[in-house]
Amino acid sequence: MPDMKAIFAANREWARSMCESDPDFFNRLVSQQEPEHLWIGCSDSRVPVNQVAGLQPGEAFVHRNIANIVSIDDLNCQAVIQYAVEILGVKYIVVCGHYGCGGVLAALRGQATGLIGDWISSIVALREQHATTLAALASEAERHDRLCELNVIEQVRCLSETEAVKTAWSRGQALRIHGWIYSIRDGLLKDLHASIDGPLGG
Ligand code: CO
Repeated sequence: MPDMKAIFAANREWARSMCESDPDFFNRLVSQQEPEHLWIGCSDSRVPVNQVAGLQPGEAFVHRNIANIVSIDDLNCQAVIQYAVEILGVKYIVVCGHYGCGGVLAALRGQATGLIGDWISSIVALREQHATTLAALASEAERHDRLCELNVIEQVRCLSETEAVKTAWSRGQALRIHGWIYSIRDGLLKDLHASIDGPLGG
């Protein structure tokens, strides 16, 4: 990791280059933020949201945690969702997982203890729910990949059941939830075709 001096130097250079290419850039951002996307991703340092999705500052409202989990009991995540949907009026929510996720691997192996063990317990439950599918796969690497995908699909479902999202749909607000996965092997995003734009079963 670069030392602190290098980070500040890089920051000054970035701000300078942004002003050079678009003199009004910071003035526009100061006055308001109007992102169309809420992005829920993993805290993993290899998945920098704006870079991998080609989004500029101001274009995505972001929430990240270990293994991109959406929990009804997580006040932080729920407040982010409410703010994004009700105040910012985002049109899309993307849950983006990634292959090679350490949180998912810990759940697959049943290894994590303490706070992290508590945090990923819902993925351990998901592993049990899909035990037959996972057992049919030939290797741990394939089981890991599949559980990363299943986790994204499950979080899309959880999002569709949050109060803010259900309320938005009930008042006719256009809001679509997508489930994507990112590969740290080649830098590419993949759509898991788990999109939802209204209440499940209704
Ligand atoms: Co991860």
